[in-house]
Amino acid sequence: MNSKEYFSLKFENDELIFLDQTKLPIEEIYHSTSDYERVAEAIEKLEIRGAPLIGIAAAYALALSMKNANKESINDTFNSAFERLKNTRPTAVNLFFALNELKNVFQNSNTLNDIYNLLLNKAKDIHIDDIKKCELIAEKGLKIFNKKSIVLTHCNTGKLATGGEGTAFNVIKQAYKKDLVEFVYADETRPLLQGSRLTSFELEKEGIPFAVQTDSSAASLFSTGKIDLVVVGADRIASNGDTANKIGTYNLAVLCSFHNVPFYIAAPTTTIDKNIKTGNEIEIEYRNSEELFNFKGHKIIPSKFNTYTPAFDVTPSKLIKGIITEEKIYEYPYNFNNV
Ligand code: MRU
Repeated sequence: MNSKEYFSLKFENDELIFLDQTKLPIEEIYHSTSDYERVAEAIEKLEIRGAPLIGIAAAYALALSMKNANKESINDTFNSAFERLKNTRPTAVNLFFALNELKNVFQNSNTLNDIYNLLLNKAKDIHIDDIKKCELIAEKGLKIFNKKSIVLTHCNTGKLATGGEGTAFNVIKQAYKKDLVEFVYADETRPLLQGSRLTSFELEKEGIPFAVQTDSSAASLFSTGKIDLVVVGADRIASNGDTANKIGTYNLAVLCSFHNVPFYIAAPTTTIDKNIKTGNEIEIEYRNSEELFNFKGHKIIPSKFNTYTPAFDVTPSKLIKGIITEEKIYEYPYNFNNV
């Protein structure tokens, strides 16, 4: 395979083929499976990651659970696959959105004869819809550039995190193509390094000039006055616009506020959770302490130490200048209950 032609996942011949993101950028390894349990493990281990992508993967996995299901126990099989996939990660709402879409199809189908294909078609629709949403987000997002800009981003929001070309990453990519981006700073994104391993991988493939920096370098960079804008993704957006994204995002929003730099979120509307009013209701995932005890396979601190390991933080909506969706750029104050 040409190294430029990577993909995050695709569904072919009744199998989900996915790129193992834990091995990037050193190795590009693809796994194939028709087992929903293997997909659940891949989501838990972050082999498959990024809010929209885990929703798509879980949808394909739930469909796969029905492929050879025994008619007598089909309800039980569906419910246990649904629960297993739902419990893989708690924060990104796209996971629950996609699983519930399939549940509606399951519950509303008159005959369970062809349920595998019905669910598979729904999963494909969700995938295709995300591709389209990524294109529209980038199109709408071009409006945030009023000059050729130096941009800072956090975590990974590209092809590796979505079904299409990305959210915040695609805004940057399309703006670069229009000569609106001069340079990108990519936060390394501790502890799993989605920025230094994955965003740098994607920026290099696109030929966009960039530097990787430790997360803690951001304040120093802002003090040079070099950053024109920050654009990042989201895992869940509450009705009032409070936004959960990768840990360290809130730090950037505070820095933007202090330095008067616009801070934008880019996300599909499937990331908006209208069932919750504010960010206080968002369940935050905590990672295993082992990720702090070890670095590159080596023990660096004793396992007896206490750790604090949130995978996401919540940025208060008043710090967010705009939320770029496939529909339009929403501006503060947000009220997604009315849209
Ligand atoms: O833990 P991860 O790598 O799944 O976290 C991903 C993020 O925080 C992304 O910014 C978010 O999911 C948006 S992806 C388009």
